[in-house]
Amino acid sequence: MKKVSFAEFGGPDVLQLIDAEEPHAGPGRIRIAVRAAGVNPVDWRLREGQVLGAHPVELPFGVGQDAAGVVDEIGEGVEGVEVGDRVFGEGTSTYAEFAVLGAWARMPEGLSFEEAAGYPSVVETALRVLCEVGVRPGQTLLVSGASGGVGSAVLQIARERGITVIGTAGAANQDYLRSLGALATTYGEGWVERVRGIGPVDAALDLAGSGVIRELVELTGDPRKVISIADLGAPDLGVRFSGVAGSVPDALAEAAGLIARGRLHIPVDKAYPLTEAAAAHADSQAGHTRGRRVLVI
Ligand SMILES: NC(=O)c1ccc[n+]([C@@H]2O[C@H](COP(=O)([O-])OP(=O)(O)OC[C@H]3O[C@@H](n4cnc5c(N)ncnc54)[C@H](OP(=O)(O)O)[C@@H]3O)[C@@H](O)[C@H]2O)c1
Repeated sequence: MKKVSFAEFGGPDVLQLIDAEEPHAGPGRIRIAVRAAGVNPVDWRLREGQVLGAHPVELPFGVGQDAAGVVDEIGEGVEGVEVGDRVFGEGTSTYAEFAVLGAWARMPEGLSFEEAAGYPSVVETALRVLCEVGVRPGQTLLVSGASGGVGSAVLQIARERGITVIGTAGAANQDYLRSLGALATTYGEGWVERVRGIGPVDAALDLAGSGVIRELVELTGDPRKVISIADLGAPDLGVRFSGVAGSVPDALAEAAGLIARGRLHIPVDKAYPLTEAAAAHADSQAGHTRGRRVLVI
């Protein structure tokens, strides 16, 4: 089968589409015929040799953790899923024709494989940070970097919970944030004053890692009311860095309910064939993805 892999750390051009042995589902896992794979920033961070402490990498490394597809093998001890089911979830080496998943859920009716592949990591992260930041219905949450994959999910889940969100994004994404129920402003010079002009903030999330931790603490008045997922220097300012994943099946089950009720939608910014994984990485790395980029197999 075909899969995308790298044998050395480096830029997008280290990605190779290779012929590889098919993987098989061990105990507690399933194998899917992959129809689409989500492209997450962690994929290119690993390719560059970043974040190796949290995610050890053995070379050569098969890229990708999110996917949607059709179940074709079921490992020992797995219940509640059958060959032929359409599922989305997390696993290893998902930029491939077949991949093994360790966490999954059935896809909601009406969701395409392309769309479904964009959800797993994004909704797990969004639900985790909303829980960790401790924001309650009726309160106001500031989200720095609100138009990407994680931001898109945070905004919609927060809206569903009765939380007011102020989101920052580029000029091209202001209407997009409003369409997800948020109050919107641009990042860049003067952004703190623009947020103050909108209103007081009870808690804040740094999703972009753009060096704004000090300002988020100033706006909330308390480092314990701020969480970052993208700035490893945050703890130096007393702010928690969230990096330990929660339950993906629970997150997907909650997301599936919201998707089915039309309350959550992560748009596909662009879909690429497997042969263009390097272009998908370069585009993701440019830092302005709206929703999620995906590879179609
Ligand atoms: N720690 C964890 O568990 C965890 C989990 C998931 C992701 N992450 C990390 O979290 C980050 C976000 O992930 P993602 O999947 O949402 O990324 P993404 O989809 O690539 O989104 C990036 C977003 O950042 C925005 N942005 C760019 N420059 C900005 C700035 N100066 N200020 C504010 N926003 C800016 C962009 O908005 P515009 O296009 O509007 O400019 C874009 O929408 C990544 O660094 C990723 O590695 C960490």
